[in-house]
Amino acid sequence: MTIDALNLSGAPTPLQRADRLGRELGFQPGALMIKRDDLTVFGVGGNKARKLDHLCADARNRGCRTLVTGGAVQSNHVRMTAAAAAMLGLECVVVLGGREDSPMEGNLLLDRVFGARTVFTGAVYSDELEEAIAEEVDRLDSRGEAPYLIPLGGSSPIGALGYVDAAREIAAEASGAPVVYTACGSGGTHAGLVAGLGDHARVVGVDVGAVRDIGTKVASLAPMTAAAAGMAEPRGEVRLVSGQIGRGYGAPTEAAREAILLVARTEGIVLDPVYSGKAMAGLVADRREGRLGSDQPTVFVHTGGLPALFTSRYRDWLAGNGNAVASDGQ
Ligand SMILES: Cc1ncc(COP(=O)(O)O)c(C=O)c1O
Repeated sequence: MTIDALNLSGAPTPLQRADRLGRELGFQPGALMIKRDDLTVFGVGGNKARKLDHLCADARNRGCRTLVTGGAVQSNHVRMTAAAAAMLGLECVVVLGGREDSPMEGNLLLDRVFGARTVFTGAVYSDELEEAIAEEVDRLDSRGEAPYLIPLGGSSPIGALGYVDAAREIAAEASGAPVVYTACGSGGTHAGLVAGLGDHARVVGVDVGAVRDIGTKVASLAPMTAAAAGMAEPRGEVRLVSGQIGRGYGAPTEAAREAILLVARTEGIVLDPVYSGKAMAGLVADRREGRLGSDQPTVFVHTGGLPALFTSRYRDWLAGNGNAVASDGQ
């Protein structure tokens, strides 16, 4: 049974021409567009809003009263889940990879602002976190709090349906048959776009190093999402750019810094250091190195992530005063 999605996200989002950026990169006018999923309307915005449209509908349909999820201390997904719970009058428990004494800034600060209960685990690996989330769900269940488990990054077939919606918007709004670039973290955004567009050839995911072997996950999640949407199995092979991770998930890279400054100074649009900055760095490299043609209609999905920009970790790096702290402790 399919459930009607909520529209917490306020989608559709704008699809904007990016001609000044496009000119810098040698695109023909009109070829480069930016899908502004950073402008979804709640919780400071970002790609997780579309996933939550579907996940929260499912939670409601099941009569759940507590959203439970987890992620890194500076997880955008966790912050957006906390905001969605607030909007719907649900409780929210978030299981975090960091420690209690993590700096109270960026997304962690917003988790508190939105009223989520935080559980710190110190977990480093995603399987440890997944275990801790499952334990929390069991605990809440035994106390009668009617928990609803949202997996890391919201990247289940239900969550990825949000990006089938986005793919439909892009197909309706963009001219030609654009190739779509997105950051690829837990894979749901990439998989949903592929499911919606019907062909892996249409979507390039820039791996940000959040999950090991993300290509395998996208390869299995895309057909599951297509099935959940009642669509045909997508054709082709997963397309991943893997050269933008740097020293690891969240590690600052010079290419991301250049991409952030270039987009800010040509379009007045702010990318983030962990996801969309690296994704744009992948697009820039593909264009400069000739893998992306000057007349190829191209849509860059701006997936948000703004709060990370204001954390102490990236301040000096972005301002050009030295290096940010290395890849651990995101
Ligand atoms: C700002 C931002 N962009 C992109 C992504 C990647 O999306 P996905 O996890 O669906 O691959 C995330 C995931 O956390 C994110 O927070």
